[in-house]
Amino acid sequence: MVCKLADMPENGARGFTLTGADKSDRLDVIIWATRDGDNETISGFVNKCPHMGLPLETFPDRFLSAAGDALICSAHGARFTVDGACFAGPCKGAHLHPLDLRIENELIILPPQKT
Ligand code: FES
Repeated sequence: MVCKLADMPENGARGFTLTGADKSDRLDVIIWATRDGDNETISGFVNKCPHMGLPLETFPDRFLSAAGDALICSAHGARFTVDGACFAGPCKGAHLHPLDLRIENELIILPPQKT
């Protein structure tokens, strides 16, 4: 489990560090919740910029543009759509690594997967 759906802001992104049974096995992820009318979309990505492999945020949970419509890498300003595609910045055309999330019983679940 990543978190409860209720832990997510209505239109916002949060970062989480997931650990496996072996504590050295960790994965930093970004969960982005967007709402358009009654439609809510939950997207997830590995928190690793395709430009230089850095985490996107400088401050905890500060991932989004002022308008809330793009993820921004704080290192060099790359901007990403809700699909994880970089549309501006030094890695334009590249993609964040998407996560195959599931929602079950009001929980955001990340099934085991390769990254
Ligand atoms: S590391 Fe993200 S834009 Fe450079």
